[in-house]
Amino acid sequence: MLIAKGLKKNYISKEKNGFFRSSVKTIEAVKGIDLTIEPGKIVGLLGLNGAGKTTTIKMLSTLLEPDEGSCSVDGLDLVKDAFKIKHIVNMIAGGERMVYWRLTATENLEYFGKLYNIPKNELKNRIDGLIEFVGLKERANEPVEKYSKGMKQRLQIARGLINDPKYLFMDEPTLGLDAPIARDLRKFTKSLAREKGKGILLTSHYINEIEELCDYVYIIDQGLKIMEGTPKEIASIVANCTNQYKIKMLDFSEKLKSQFETFLRTVQSDYFIEAADGGYEIDVTSHMDIQGELIALLSQHTKIISFAAMEPKLEDAIITLSEVKAYEQIHA
Ligand SMILES: Nc1ncnc2c1ncn2[C@@H]1O[C@H](COP(=O)(O)OP(=O)(O)O)[C@@H](O)[C@H]1O
Ligand SMILES: [Mg+2]
Repeated sequence: MLIAKGLKKNYISKEKNGFFRSSVKTIEAVKGIDLTIEPGKIVGLLGLNGAGKTTTIKMLSTLLEPDEGSCSVDGLDLVKDAFKIKHIVNMIAGGERMVYWRLTATENLEYFGKLYNIPKNELKNRIDGLIEFVGLKERANEPVEKYSKGMKQRLQIARGLINDPKYLFMDEPTLGLDAPIARDLRKFTKSLAREKGKGILLTSHYINEIEELCDYVYIIDQGLKIMEGTPKEIASIVANCTNQYKIKMLDFSEKLKSQFETFLRTVQSDYFIEAADGGYEIDVTSHMDIQGELIALLSQHTKIISFAAMEPKLEDAIITLSEVKAYEQIHA
């Protein structure tokens, strides 16, 4: 079990102000994050760009030392036992070069395996197994630069598994991949947890990916956790935060306008209207599902030409959740 408590990390960056002066700026990337990863489970870390996902993963991978907080990995201490922990964790980053393009798949894995002092025979067996597992057997002795994007990504996975880690941290692994390759990778991630018993932390900003794969999800924003729960719970909250409707209708009388605005006030929702080819187009944003009420009210007064409920957007939900959290803190 991996248990992190109150992890914090600041970056100090120097900014030049003219020739002789420079000022020091502190960026609070992670402001206190708790999370737990159980073997065999996939945990999601969800957040917008700059939320602190990569920084969190770098701390858990021992690449960055936390400023505050603690983390125990199977009873070992992340900072004091960093050397031992390196052998039981690993990370895979999407869209980044973490393999050598001039070397073959086999050579890459030999190189990374040696960094872990894996005995020669065992390393050879492990490499053969991994190359088979990620489906690169036919091409294992070709330089990586000849590989397709999907093959390079699969090699990254093999590299991330070379030390047979108990915990694997995957930082936006499907970023920039074509849909079919991303789908394969998701299947693969699932089998790592379900069949090989790895504890996996997966960061993403795709709610669908998190819904499909994760057993439990943390949402972070500006270095802080704003929510946690099962993917079902998260998806329903996201959906509830961001109901959006696009309605086209024939007319918008004064009477309808006043009833419509009264109704929206009672459900704390907003709207935007504009005239559009012979009728009106309305956009409604609501924190509640008001589809039935909207249709009932509008159709009493006018003819509805079209009605569309938009897909809930994670971005909108995170913004709403952050606002709610800030409001609660002020009024606590
Ligand atoms: N090496 C760095 N130096 C200074 N600031 C950084 C560095 N890396 C990340 N940051 C800042 O820390 C915050 C969190 O970044 P990051 O952990 O990369 O977020 P995410 O992976 O969720 O996009 C952002 O404001 C980012 O600009
Ligand atoms: Mg990142």
